[in-house]
Amino acid sequence: MVHSSGEEQDADTPWWHDAVFYQVYVRSFADSNGDGVGDLEGIRSRLGYLELLGVDAIWLTPFYRSPMADHGYDVADPRDVDPLFGDLDAFDALVAEVHDHGMKITVDLVPNHTSDQHLWFQEALAAPPGSVERDRYVFRDGRGVHGELPPNNWTSVFGGPAWQQVPDGQWYLHIFAPEQPDLNWRNPQVQADLEHTLRFWLERGVDGFRIDVAHGMAKPEDLPDMDPRLLNVDGLTAFAMDIHDPRFDDDGVHEVHRLIRGVLDQYPGTMAIGEIWVGDDDRFADYLRSDELHLGFNFRLVDARFDADSVRGAIEHSLGAVAKVGAQPTWTLSNHDVMRHPTRYGGGPLGTVRARAMALVELALPGVVYLYNGEELGLPNLELPDWALQDPIWERSGHAERGRDGARVPMPWEGNQPPFGFSENGAQPWLPMPDDWESLTVEAQLEDEGSMLSLYRQALEVRRTSGAFAGDELEWYGAPPGCFAFRRKGGGLICALNTSAAAVPLPPGDVLIASGPLDGTKLPPDTSVWLV
Ligand code: NOJ
Repeated sequence: MVHSSGEEQDADTPWWHDAVFYQVYVRSFADSNGDGVGDLEGIRSRLGYLELLGVDAIWLTPFYRSPMADHGYDVADPRDVDPLFGDLDAFDALVAEVHDHGMKITVDLVPNHTSDQHLWFQEALAAPPGSVERDRYVFRDGRGVHGELPPNNWTSVFGGPAWQQVPDGQWYLHIFAPEQPDLNWRNPQVQADLEHTLRFWLERGVDGFRIDVAHGMAKPEDLPDMDPRLLNVDGLTAFAMDIHDPRFDDDGVHEVHRLIRGVLDQYPGTMAIGEIWVGDDDRFADYLRSDELHLGFNFRLVDARFDADSVRGAIEHSLGAVAKVGAQPTWTLSNHDVMRHPTRYGGGPLGTVRARAMALVELALPGVVYLYNGEELGLPNLELPDWALQDPIWERSGHAERGRDGARVPMPWEGNQPPFGFSENGAQPWLPMPDDWESLTVEAQLEDEGSMLSLYRQALEVRRTSGAFAGDELEWYGAPPGCFAFRRKGGGLICALNTSAAAVPLPPGDVLIASGPLDGTKLPPDTSVWLV
């Protein structure tokens, strides 16, 4: 098999070893039936684009039956397709066609919680305290004389308390929205059901899973209070703090990952990546032991500022963490939960120029890359009007946090007005698209050699075909302040980034690609370059 780095890959190297995954946020990718919401047929109709872009695999966000309180991350039936997105036949057709295009398909798995509309939760509500039905979730009596206070002080990642009281007085745990009750992972039925779900999709031909909140699931038996310093920060911010958060990363979680791995090992060539917001490197590495997850999302590049030291720190940290267990690193600049990176880097033309520079940095790194749909078009994060906001964070935070909708606006495909080819019949998209996205459409960018899309296509092709990307090790060069340069030891690729205010001399070598115009033999500010 020929793969990234242009070399024959040996038979023991798994397909995902240095793969580029493309995250499809299903609601926002392509709408085939004109209801303003993306769907499976829409994705199938655009696979030619993904092949042209040059990615190896796709990750679909949840398309399972759901009341959509958290846009599909509240799953009512994990073994069926929500009618909004299609049906099982449409899914099977999609799997077959992804494979025909020479790509792999991975799907989201949400084991931490279900929807409150899941049959199990409805049964739990109808059953008395102490029943087997309630034992599948985390029900507890309250504190206070009459149980009128929540069982502990935990907060929901989306704001407000993590407990909801039911009419008979008991409380149930929801680390996310109240419509997403947490499962009790000590219950054998919960474990067996996940195994059933894994096999269901594996038998339909999926190549792997992205595990939602992979550091959740297990909770300490006695549910101790959280450190009060964590009470007013959201789950993601807490990741950067050195305070143990009892809601996450309980040792018991590793048993769940061993269960998942045990099933995947029966389907050779399949893999799992976990969403692991765990700041401590040793504890992060534990998830990647040989009998647990294959890969772990690394969010350090998301956290890094556009500053050479900050980015270098993120890279070194990430490489160091996976080295502890001999796992492959992963790299992400954006996803459906965070502000899109051109906006994080300052927005406007400057944000775009910096995003181009960071795209080359990310794609030069050894290991696995996850792109988020629309980043190859340089889409900015949008400030949406209040009426348009749908993320539960907006309501749960009492309108203090605008939430994640600004990163989820549908893809602009073609034409000169909304919905820019997103919906076949020009229907209103589920989130409003701005009038001025004509120059950002796929159609416009494919024809423009200087576009973000052309940069991604070119970089992905070089990454896939050049021997310069061989090997997994890198070494750092000395570089002027505000800059860095590293070299891929195996193949010799050099990547340099300048985040300082002045042009600096280019490292020696022949230029393969630059993120922007070079200044003779100098690397201008906000620019990166690949050389051999
Ligand atoms: C992480 C997902 O990426 C996010 O979108 C979702 O809201 C939470 N997990 C809860 O499932």
